[in-house]
Order: sequence, then structure tokens, then C-alpha cells
Amino acid sequence: MLPKLLIGEAAVARDPRALFQHAPQDIWLEVGFGGGEHLAAQATANPVAGIIGCEVFLNGVASLVRHVDERKLNNVRVWHGDVRELLPNLPDGSIARVFVLYPDPWPKARHAKRRLIGPDSLPELARILADGGELRFASDHPVYVRWALQHLTAAPEFHWQARTPEDWRTRPADQIETRYEAKAKTAGRTPSYLTFLRRPRA
Ligand SMILES: C[S@@+](CC[C@H](N)C(=O)[O-])C[C@H]1O[C@@H](n2cnc3c(N)ncnc32)[C@H](O)[C@@H]1O
Repeated sequence: MLPKLLIGEAAVARDPRALFQHAPQDIWLEVGFGGGEHLAAQATANPVAGIIGCEVFLNGVASLVRHVDERKLNNVRVWHGDVRELLPNLPDGSIARVFVLYPDPWPKARHAKRRLIGPDSLPELARILADGGELRFASDHPVYVRWALQHLTAAPEFHWQARTPEDWRTRPADQIETRYEAKAKTAGRTPSYLTFLRRPRA
């Protein structure tokens, strides 16, 4: 099945909607989907969306393909590789929602530049997100959560709607627990959930 799901640079750059046969209303992107269980659950619950999953780990891609096959999903496409090579190919405002769930925290300060949410990636994420689009980040790593908050609140394109601690302590109702989240909780770590909206372009 994988060749049918894999996408390449040229097709993405033209129009991500054209990657799907069902003329999706919105295109969503999940970065570093791991075993793909969250992506498959979103694809099942939102058949009108088209979801692009991005993952470097081959066993993760294989696991997602199994979910797609078992659930007969027709709204999933896969970028098997580094998200930093995918993002520049996506047209401006083409993505309605981005999930970055439990990205590798790169805890040492000298490795902070490798974090998927940070000063290098945010302008690119702001560019590809549609007006009013969502960036959903989750992490159990306090240093990374602080770092993400610091950079996201400083980015003029993004807006945090959280009003009470419950807003960042509670997983969005439409997201299932990922494999990594389950492990983090078993180990006694507490996740934080940050949802930022892309401000409308002037
Ligand atoms: C800690 S795991 C979390 C997986 C999954 N989101 C979960 O919550 O169970 C981080 C994932 O991001 C992937 N990843 C790391 N850097 C990446 C990159 N630059 N592009 C795409 N995927 C990446 C890794 O291969 C790994 O599967």
C-alpha cells in the first residue's frame, strides 16, 4: 500500500488537495506521527479532511500503513522523511491544522535548534497555515513546553486562546492519547497541550 500513500515534492507544491481523491475540505498535517494511532483516529473521525502524516522512522510508517489498511482509510497520505524538507514545498495557507505531538525534546541547550517548534520553524508553519488555522503542540517535557510557549507567544502570527490552566492541562477532546503520551504518564510525567491559532493575514 505504501506507494499509493507516499507523496513527493512536486505533487505537494502544486496543490495538496489534489493528493486526495475525495476533494477534502481541509488539509491537516501531523508531524512525527510515531505509530500513527492518533493520525488514524483523526482520519477515521474526520473523513472530509485530508491528512498528511510526516515521519522519518520507517517502522512508524509501516504501523500507520497497517492502520490505514485495517480501517480502509482513503484520506491519509505520507511524507516519509524530515518535515523540514516537506514544509518549503507546501503552498502558503494550504494547511488548516498542524499536530506536533510529543516531538523529541532535545533537552540540552546546545541542541535546542533541532526542536521542531522554535524560531526556525515558526515562520514556515505560519506561512503554510491558513488564516484561523490551528497549531496543536503537546509535550511532557517542561523545558520544551516553556521554550515553545516563549517562541509561540513572541510570534506575531500566532495567538493563544488559553484562559485557565485547564486549557493547557487538558487534552483536546478530539485527540486520542498517543503511544508516547501513555508512556509519559506511566512514568509520572504530566503533559501540556498548547493550541495556537494562526491570526488572519492583513
Ligand atoms: C517522541 S516521538 C512521538 C511520536 C508520536 N507523536 C507519539 O506521540 O507517540 C517523536 C517522533 O518524531 C519523529 N521525528 C523526529 N524528528 C522528525 C523530523 N524532523 N521530521 C519528521 N519526523 C520526525 C520521530 O521519528 C518520532 O517518531
